[in-house]
Amino acid sequence: SDYTTIVSETRGRVGWLTLNRPEALNALNSTLVAELADAAMAFDRDEAIGAIVVTGSERAFAAGADIKEMAGKSARDMAMENPFAALEDFARVRTPVVAAVAGFALGGGCELAMMCDVVLAADTAVFGQPEIDLGVIPGIGGTQRLTRAVGYYKAAELVLTGRRMPAEEAERAGLVSRVVPAAQLLDEAGAVAERIASRSLPVAYAAKQALRASQETSAAEGLRLERTLFASLFALEDQKEGMAAFAEKRAPEFRHR
Ligand code: HXC
Repeated sequence: SDYTTIVSETRGRVGWLTLNRPEALNALNSTLVAELADAAMAFDRDEAIGAIVVTGSERAFAAGADIKEMAGKSARDMAMENPFAALEDFARVRTPVVAAVAGFALGGGCELAMMCDVVLAADTAVFGQPEIDLGVIPGIGGTQRLTRAVGYYKAAELVLTGRRMPAEEAERAGLVSRVVPAAQLLDEAGAVAERIASRSLPVAYAAKQALRASQETSAAEGLRLERTLFASLFALEDQKEGMAAFAEKRAPEFRHR
């Protein structure tokens, strides 16, 4: 398609989204945010896609919101024309999303990674919320998702100081699913995404929805949703197939329905 700031490709059942503003270390300007959300929603509507990978370059996943584009905006502009609103659409796609992070994941870049379901980091990855150095605070989830990922005290230190956190520390803290050598990042991300996409699509949607409830609702509400989703999956052909395959000692053939 005719995106100018990202590359969108399909490989088997996996949709790949590569941020592509190398001149600005993939800073999230309004075009990129709109294109990323549009492309992710297109994959989400496509039953042939079972997982999405989001990645950047070796040097930067994304160095944050585009500071140059943002600098002159008024409070009214930011409230009324919130250029990052489209990222909430990205965060809400049903399809599981794997972030493959190398290099800088700062500010909005760190926040974008936290909108994904699996975060694979190259050993070169660096995470941080440096907004305080610019006279602002994180604005697309950094104070909320980071706190849930790493706990209050780690998140507060990062947000209040703007300090950058290397991949190993981010993994220990719980922000990263797994750290891999930089040269293997894309292969690993592809393997994780293919594995997710090989299972039943509606079951993956249910799993993601239940997982998200753990971040967005009370435990009581989340447990109720999990129970309801779990029961509803017994209406699917893929549940019958998965359990029949187990009994027959063969690999299941999911039809994604
Ligand atoms: C616009 C950016 C940018 C950004 C880098 N660039 N980050 N442009 N917005 N966030 C541009 C630089 O201006 C430069 O362009 C080019 O990319 C290369 O960057 P350098 O700084 O020359 O590279 P380096 O010295 O290696 O330093 C890398 C860096 C640094 C440490 C990542 O670029 C940096 O600190 N960037 C800003 C990080 C940040 O503060 N992010 C949070 C943004 S606020 P030129 O044309 O000069 O070559 C945010 C809020 C989100 O994300 C909430 C919104 C609601």
